[in-house]
Amino acid sequence: MKKTILILIPVMVISIALYGLQDAKLINEKKYSSSESDENLERKVDSVLQLMRLNEKIGQLVQYSGKWNATGPSSSTGDQYKLNKLKNGEVGSMLNITSVASIRETQKIVMDYSRLKIPLIFGYDVIHGYKTIFPIPLGESASWDLDIIKQTAAIAAKEAAASGIQWTFAPMIDVSRDARWGRIMEGAGEDPYLNSVIGVARIEGFQGNDLSLSHTIAACAKHFAGYGFAEAGRDYNSVNIGEYELHNTILPPFKAAAEAGVATFMNSFNEIDGIPSTGNKMLQRDILKRDWGWDGFIVSDWGSIGEMIAHGYAKDKKHAAQIALSAGSDMDMESYAYEANLETLLNENKITLSQLDDAVRRVLRLKFKLGLFDDPYRYCDEKKEKSEVYTKENLAIARDAAKKSIVLLKNSSKLLPLSKEIKSIAVIGPLADDKDTPLGNWRALGKNDSAVSLLEGVRSAVGKNTKIYYEKGADLTIPNLKPGESQFLFPIKFNTDNTSGIQAAVEAARKSEVVLLAIGENAFQTGEGRSQTNIGFFGVQQELLEAVYKVNKNIVIVLMNGRPMDISWAANNVPSILECWFLGSQSGNAIADVLFGDYNPSGKLPVSFPHNVGQEPLYYNQKNTGRPSSPSHVTYSGYTDAPKSALYPFGYGLSYSTFEYKNLKLDKSVISKEGSIKVSVDVFNSGGRDGEEVVQLYIRDLIGSITRPVRELKAFEKVMIKAGETKTIHFTINSDVLQFYTLNKKWEVEPGDFNLWVGGDSKASLKASFVVSE
Ligand code: NOJ
Repeated sequence: MKKTILILIPVMVISIALYGLQDAKLINEKKYSSSESDENLERKVDSVLQLMRLNEKIGQLVQYSGKWNATGPSSSTGDQYKLNKLKNGEVGSMLNITSVASIRETQKIVMDYSRLKIPLIFGYDVIHGYKTIFPIPLGESASWDLDIIKQTAAIAAKEAAASGIQWTFAPMIDVSRDARWGRIMEGAGEDPYLNSVIGVARIEGFQGNDLSLSHTIAACAKHFAGYGFAEAGRDYNSVNIGEYELHNTILPPFKAAAEAGVATFMNSFNEIDGIPSTGNKMLQRDILKRDWGWDGFIVSDWGSIGEMIAHGYAKDKKHAAQIALSAGSDMDMESYAYEANLETLLNENKITLSQLDDAVRRVLRLKFKLGLFDDPYRYCDEKKEKSEVYTKENLAIARDAAKKSIVLLKNSSKLLPLSKEIKSIAVIGPLADDKDTPLGNWRALGKNDSAVSLLEGVRSAVGKNTKIYYEKGADLTIPNLKPGESQFLFPIKFNTDNTSGIQAAVEAARKSEVVLLAIGENAFQTGEGRSQTNIGFFGVQQELLEAVYKVNKNIVIVLMNGRPMDISWAANNVPSILECWFLGSQSGNAIADVLFGDYNPSGKLPVSFPHNVGQEPLYYNQKNTGRPSSPSHVTYSGYTDAPKSALYPFGYGLSYSTFEYKNLKLDKSVISKEGSIKVSVDVFNSGGRDGEEVVQLYIRDLIGSITRPVRELKAFEKVMIKAGETKTIHFTINSDVLQFYTLNKKWEVEPGDFNLWVGGDSKASLKASFVVSE
């Protein structure tokens, strides 16, 4: 108690000095909350700003990492250098410091030594959980369940906040359509609308309604912009898209995030059409800050200001700092470019004081919103750090999220669900008893080897009389990489040729009624810097699969992976395939819930699965071209050696039930540009089990001033339908749904003919048409 008072007294004294005496009352009486008027907040921000010296202002725009080589090359400057900067009040934020004790210690340096005692904000990559690990974002997106997505983000925030962290670098809302790109695991897949609504759910989960509460944290919409369109799927590669593609495909999730009040944005490593996003004024200053009126701050990606030199866009760090600040990039993550150059640039009139002040104001604003000026240690609570993290309740939500994320890709002979009384099961594969892989990459403080493995999940699900034969069969470890080590140092090498485990696996399969074959990817095959040209099974997994198949065809493939994979052989031969991504802490239990029918699978793919890697990038919402494929010209705009369409399309996923769509009705067939149409459809559960279905609505604008995709997802609803029951689902089509970024460089509805489909995936065939009149 005494200690707390001692810490708080200096802060309050400073606060009073900061605001002037007449404002001291205001600080004491009123903590910031989201209901506080903007005017009050701005008054507070200004009152701090006017006390700041130039070095302190620049300092607010500096962010350092608390450890070396965390996610990219770091500078050669040492800890002593950072310590001095902290003492001088020349640092605004730290990342990668992850315990209450270390956060308290670091904040205390600023409080004890710096002149103005402006609190640091601590950020961390809390991507899919903090210690309780949820499915990787791509996997969780397959749930199409916005409530559970919001809930897991809220728990991640609660756990991170209980450990002293106030800011996560999530969600990633980069539309990503290339399975080769390793970071596809971190977003919501190929569709702009799905990325928008899932991004907003995550933001709402992290931030809640009030950032000043000690269990909510600031979110960060990243990577602004275009990062997911890296050419050839190579991470950080150039992006070559036009203005209309940028506006219609890449920006919508970011606009939705800005409207949802996301506290921060992160810019991106890539260039678009020759301009690195970090130095892109049109994106940051014009679109985000001016046109969208967003008042948060933009943090650079790690070293991305300095990297404009390698791009060939800046001649040195000084030039890079000038470009970045002028373009609206507010905080420098680990480039050391702002701290070294902004003062000179200002003296040389290469940047303006109002640009600098605007950036500082944005940072201070968030610090006020988070309540850090009221109490810089408000997130530091050693008790909470122990009691609120990795709790039973959080793990229960992790199981719920995980089972909802599983996608049943194939169940041709109705092998699934299995009976819990089954006599024998072979649980085979390199991932079958792997307690680490299900945690995926970007696992924050998830403890290595802490997930429930498939084998453990199956063991706790079945009755005593079921015999379980476990064999690893193949190895998928990456011998030269330990979790936590820098992933940038070497290419991944697998133990590729070790077939010694296959025979035992075959024997286990031979004596079992059914085989669960857990194959896929190592957790660190996807993530940053993890692009691949081969998206098939590494090592001897395919050999293992075919050997097992020879002796037992009752195979359920339990696929664990962070990207769409080439699973064509399996899809052609094996009766059942469950897409299980990297499902997090409760992986094995959740998979068992689905395998044994305690949960009827309801996931739908957020990204297309190809027949082979040569189809990538592959996405359903493509353009028609002037020579679309047709039955008489199947190879037009396609391939001579493979289909053009996906093996499993976007939006696809089976259930243990079946759903029939009928009676698609539109209340009118002609509307004005401002009008709206009410759409209804009946969905009948014709299977023998209750189940959830994701009812999806797609449109096509037939003729546009800019060509429009052959289909675009515009709405969906996940709904529980009892066996034998019919539910009527309603949607509204209005200008929000119909508009796009047109040749006039505006979002508008263009008159003309539209098609509309409703169904259970992007291939839905139930169709209607309507007209938007002049
Ligand atoms: C680089 C990644 O691109 C970004 O997403 C991440 O937040 C930062 N490193 C910080 O770790």
